[in-house]
Amino acid sequence: MIGLAIGAGLTAGAFAQSPATPAAPTAAVVAPAAKDWQAPDISKLADDKYGQMVRQGKALMEETYKHIGPEVKDVNKRYAGNNLGCTSCHMEAGGRKFGNPWVGTFVSFPQYRGREDAISTTEERINGCMERSMNGKPLPLDSAEMKAMMTYLQFLSTGIPVGAKLEGGGTLKLKALARAADPVAGKLVYTATCVACHGDNGQGVRRGKAGDANGYQFPPLWGPDSYNNGAGMTRVTLAAGFIKGNMPSGITHLNAVLTDEQAFDVAAYINSQPRPVKKNLEADFPARKNKPVDAAFAPYTPGFSAEQHKFGPWQPIQAAREKGVYPPK
Ligand code: HEC
Ligand code: HEC
Repeated sequence: MIGLAIGAGLTAGAFAQSPATPAAPTAAVVAPAAKDWQAPDISKLADDKYGQMVRQGKALMEETYKHIGPEVKDVNKRYAGNNLGCTSCHMEAGGRKFGNPWVGTFVSFPQYRGREDAISTTEERINGCMERSMNGKPLPLDSAEMKAMMTYLQFLSTGIPVGAKLEGGGTLKLKALARAADPVAGKLVYTATCVACHGDNGQGVRRGKAGDANGYQFPPLWGPDSYNNGAGMTRVTLAAGFIKGNMPSGITHLNAVLTDEQAFDVAAYINSQPRPVKKNLEADFPARKNKPVDAAFAPYTPGFSAEQHKFGPWQPIQAAREKGVYPPK
């Protein structure tokens, strides 16, 4: 049974937005967040056309590299630019609280998005991750792959009304540190807690060998086969929240092992390493007031360095924003 509440204004997706995204209008009565939701059980679905589409969508999102990755045989299907799966970051196939869940996503779009300063559709949001987290190309809207992914997302929102507010969307929102996140301290956390799976050079561990389109047992965190510098995960606050609630693999937000400081520092370390570069990032957040203070690409808030945008402390930047100081056009 999916617990639900009719949300007033806030939607499931609103959790995943940058803090700078304007809040949706608030209605008179705000219902409490639904706490006891879980992803619907896919094994109960019949093996009819709908059931097949849902399963296909789930497979595409789990084994993205096998279907639309850069190593698949059919060159026309090479939409993703790296060998990650969508579920490298959307935990338990989109069913985990604070693990970038997709439960509730379908019913929270179309949605205002600060990055575009426009209303975006679910398909456009999927393609946002295709072009950034997957460092690839957008999937055509009418492709079988897009239809299957949309069907899986629709299934995950079965019975949830439009505008429902679910607890546990996005990732943990950690309180910003009063100091800058420290990549040097983060390297020590990495060596102690992450290196066993993600490798001494962040390269991860392949399931097979390069070129076989079988993806990773442990995904890379930086380098040429990782997410690009326009991805949400490059924001240190966002990465820290994800890491604290989901890493090392095996934990959830209920039994986190890192302190907030360790999570910020290791997020800073990972995001100070080289990764693919997305062109034309200065076109993101055309309404500059929407640009998150930890978005670590130009143009920057006047008076603050690239470094401070990336690692913090972010409170002074936030204070300047509140006085109307924004990155230039
Ligand atoms: C490197 C990590 C990563 C990978 C890989 C990734 N995503 Fe995401 N995705 C995120 C993060 C982080 C967010 C939310 C934060 C934000 O707004 O940027 C997000 C948000 C989304 C959302 C919006 C969810 C909501 O409720 O608002 C959708 C839909 C989505 N991703 C689909 C996909 C699909 C489909 C793929 C694979 C083709 C994918 N993602 C791969 C990190 C990733
Ligand atoms: C036991 C193995 C293991 C350990 C230890 C581990 N991870 Fe992961 N990590 C994974 C796996 C596997 C995934 C893919 C998601 C999944 O299937 O759980 C992942 C995914 C990720 C992702 C998102 C995907 C990507 O490629 O960017 C990040 C970021 C991440 N881990 C960071 C860390 C950090 C930081 C630590 C140390 C605090 C850590 N991990 C420790 C196994 C591990």
